Amino acid sequence: MRLLTDIRPRELAGKTCLVRVNLDIAHPHAGSFRLLSVLPTLKFLIGSGAKPIVIGHKGRPDGIASPDLSVKPAIDVLSELVGGRLDWQENLRFDPREGENDEGYARELARKADMYVNDDFATSHRASSSIVGLPRFLPSYAGLLMDREIGNLSRVRDNPEKPFVVVIGGMKIADKAGTIANLAKHDARFLLGGAYELMRETLPHGADISLPVDYVPGNGKNLDIGPKTIGIYEEVIGNAKTVLWSGPVGQAEDPRYARGSVAIAEKIAESGAFSVAGGGDTADFLEAHGMLGKFGFVSTGGGAMLAFLSGAILPGIAALEAAE
Ligand code: 3PG
Repeated sequence: MRLLTDIRPRELAGKTCLVRVNLDIAHPHAGSFRLLSVLPTLKFLIGSGAKPIVIGHKGRPDGIASPDLSVKPAIDVLSELVGGRLDWQENLRFDPREGENDEGYARELARKADMYVNDDFATSHRASSSIVGLPRFLPSYAGLLMDREIGNLSRVRDNPEKPFVVVIGGMKIADKAGTIANLAKHDARFLLGGAYELMRETLPHGADISLPVDYVPGNGKNLDIGPKTIGIYEEVIGNAKTVLWSGPVGQAEDPRYARGSVAIAEKIAESGAFSVAGGGDTADFLEAHGMLGKFGFVSTGGGAMLAFLSGAILPGIAALEAAE
């Protein structure tokens, strides 16, 4: 895979470059994690005299141009962050051909530029025109964020220093069965929170899985892990050399049920382990609590991170690897 940073800056001067970044952010602002994460690539391009055209998607408009899914608010914030008006194109998914991986759409996009940079790791698991089509028609490179995502997540997936602890929570816990099965190969110890009941059937046999021993109840449900569970989990995390955290362990957007997730995050931060967090809700939680900087690496990926850690080959990464 060719990296943007492998190109000498003077070779970039004057080049028009389509840059796919993740603009899939509900309420973009100057502290939005996903926007801050792509600044190094945009600054590298601009600093080298290249002309970026920022492309990306928001939501799932399925070919319908709904104004509430415009990417303009995110572009406005990005422009402010780079200190100049960025060229951009409206939500790629407003055109149905994007999701259909239509070759004609990829060719149309390719005509706008001399080169393509994919810095949208979080959408690399989608075989869309702009993700897998563009690298067939333009010289293509991985951006700085893409490179960091692949490097840090590979370290967890392929060679975690042990003891290796994986904290799994969130509402989409059933989507994480493949990730659990793959990471179990490295003797991971799994600490579960969230709606673990939903996936009892799918838990891989033989994996070392701890379930909560107490809960914080609310609205007739279990909405956070309880104090005994926090104590047990903190002890396990304190001995870890590598920790992966995917998904708050309670309904953490409500401060009454955030205590478990805050305790877990703080313990991971002070453990000295190589720590990786990810999944949309996890990054939002860390952003809201000002803790993004306390982890070794925070992935911008949700589904893409889980797919990568489950051992799947992501179409967007495969396309960059196959590109000339
Ligand atoms: C994400 O938020 O995970 C990415 O933007 C991909 O979005 P999608 O699940 O709608 O393809």
